[in-house]
Amino acid sequence: MSRPQAAVAARTAFRLPAMPWRDRAGRFSPLKAATLVLLVLPGVWILASLAMGRYSALATEYLIEETGAWGIRILILSLAVTPFRRILDWAAILQLRRMVGVAAFVYLALHLCAYVLDQKFDLARVAGEIVLRTYLTIGFVGLSLLTALAATSTDAMIKRLGGRRWRMLHRSVYLIGALAILHQSMQFKLPEFEPTLLGAAYAWLMLWRASSGRLEIGRSPLRLALLSLLVALGTALGEATWIHLATGADATMVLRANLDFEYEFRPAWYVLFGGLALATAAAARGLFRMVRRARVH
Ligand code: HEM
Repeated sequence: MSRPQAAVAARTAFRLPAMPWRDRAGRFSPLKAATLVLLVLPGVWILASLAMGRYSALATEYLIEETGAWGIRILILSLAVTPFRRILDWAAILQLRRMVGVAAFVYLALHLCAYVLDQKFDLARVAGEIVLRTYLTIGFVGLSLLTALAATSTDAMIKRLGGRRWRMLHRSVYLIGALAILHQSMQFKLPEFEPTLLGAAYAWLMLWRASSGRLEIGRSPLRLALLSLLVALGTALGEATWIHLATGADATMVLRANLDFEYEFRPAWYVLFGGLALATAAAARGLFRMVRRARVH
């Protein structure tokens, strides 16, 4: 028996809990430990801010906003794990997928608890609001689906459901992503920076996944760059259309604001730069692989 196999066998025999900082062989994983710390940090920051009384008058609003904001960021990050694994040829990142997904669930479960707290535990009123307010209905459907995914994220549940059924169920994470973006965006009359950026990142990830067959984007730097350009243009156009429909402002003027760098870069630029950075990383990885292969032969 190899050492990792022996460690798994020992863990199973003594029923040691599978700590999130251990790998499948039961060894300490610096990558998993560092990710765990990063995922816990926002929660610590939120609790510390509340304990220091910085938001005492608006504590529940602050809790709702911060848990919602971190929940959606981590949720979108969980959708990026598989694409990053493929584009960066980084197999180790896959062991983080479950932890990132469960972290998104924890923040969003706290988000719902904060809302219940805000409504003074009046569950009938909470249920009524969820039925009456569309953005809450959408959020609730998203969170219910995410709860099903978190509850079936263990090895035992994968075994019980069978790989095919488990994969089919877990594909609903793409729908959850869309519901989450919708829930967030519906709260603003005008496109806000972060919902626009997260929506663009979601579109990028979904288009990357949807490309298959001859059109597959995969880890081709050129195709990744073209995808990023396309999504950046779509983001700028979508933002201008939204502002035009909401306020009647001239859409071309809003579009031109993307070229005014005096105050800030608009979300479209972040998507473009982020996508180009990934394309560059994919090119560097390809070059590295080529050099290594040439050395071996
Ligand atoms: C997948 C599930 C969900 C996600 C990703 C999510 C995410 C978010 C985000 C990002 C915000 C905006 C935070 C900010 O202002 O920066 C927000 C606000 C909010 N969410 Fe959720 N949420 C979800 C489910 C729910 C559920 C189930 C409820 C309650 C039934 C809820 C109630 C609220 C409320 C009341 C606000 C504040 C609205 C305001 O500021 O007036 N959310 N949510």
